[in-house]
Amino acid sequence: MAHATSPNTHVSADAPQKTPGLHLDVAHAKASRPASRSGPAITCDDVKVFYKQHLAVRDVNLSFARNEVSALIGPSGCGKSTVLRSLNRMNDLIPGARVEGMVRFEGTDIYGEGVDATEVRRRIGMVFQKPNPFPKSIYENIAYGPRVTKMQVDNMDDLVEEALRKAAIWDEVKGKLKESALALSGGQQQRLCIARAIATKPQVILMDEPCSALDPIATLKIEDLMEELTKEFTIIIVTHNMQQAARVSQRTAFFTAEADEHGDRTGRLVEYDETAKMFSNPNDQRTEDYISGRFG
Ligand SMILES: Nc1ncnc2c1ncn2[C@@H]1O[C@H](COP(=O)(O)OP(=O)(O)O)[C@@H](O)[C@H]1O
Ligand SMILES: [Mg+2]
Repeated sequence: MAHATSPNTHVSADAPQKTPGLHLDVAHAKASRPASRSGPAITCDDVKVFYKQHLAVRDVNLSFARNEVSALIGPSGCGKSTVLRSLNRMNDLIPGARVEGMVRFEGTDIYGEGVDATEVRRRIGMVFQKPNPFPKSIYENIAYGPRVTKMQVDNMDDLVEEALRKAAIWDEVKGKLKESALALSGGQQQRLCIARAIATKPQVILMDEPCSALDPIATLKIEDLMEELTKEFTIIIVTHNMQQAARVSQRTAFFTAEADEHGDRTGRLVEYDETAKMFSNPNDQRTEDYISGRFG
């Protein structure tokens, strides 16, 4: 199999030239970004992820377009969450997890020497399956990230309001910012978690099945919100719900898991294309079988 990239290569020919190991260098306080940036937000070149000796997922070649929603779909265990976590170095926190290949964000290898994983996670935020607000006030949930990452903030009240507004929850919580976030409904908690991710001014927001613990109305609110958020952010969502992928995303990646001769199951990317194409006329029979419900 052709192996185009080595894990130790920091800069490829088509990437903007950057010094290897350079810290990601966007100023903390920049609220708005130039809209004219071109090229994908994140690219994966031949990414593989291992948990100890187990190859969990391979063949991950993806290029996530800016200001779009991309969906990762496929049967349980095919590596969707694993791939998502590899995009902002969340896998670093799992003992034994190892990423090979190259993940580039704004042209920089996020696993490159000298790159600060905390800074990567600030710029590529994450929202999890189960809403997980801190056991603190609504206000403190939002202010926490900017404080711990030592963001330069002129007015924290304004920043908190802006993040809550962008996550479409301000009107519901503006009168009770000092109350516990845990008193909110599940759907509100999830939008609060989105606001918390927004507060540190990321460019990309990763969402791992963000609606799977929510009722249909709360789900709809998050789906509407995703579309709104693409004006400013790039969104990558894992969902086991194909209708959701079809509703919210512009591009879809389909993964599956196949057992090798020893019975070890390894996930792999099968196909990545425009969502409309994936759900009407996919190239690969495995995608066709999955979306038509014959498998998985
Ligand atoms: N923390 C972990 N430690 C060890 N193996 C893991 C861990 N997380 C996931 N895996 C394994 O990696 C594979 C892919 O899992 P996952 O990424 O969670 O799939 P999906 O999100 O598509 O359901 C599975 O075989 C799973 O058992
Ligand atoms: Mg998962």
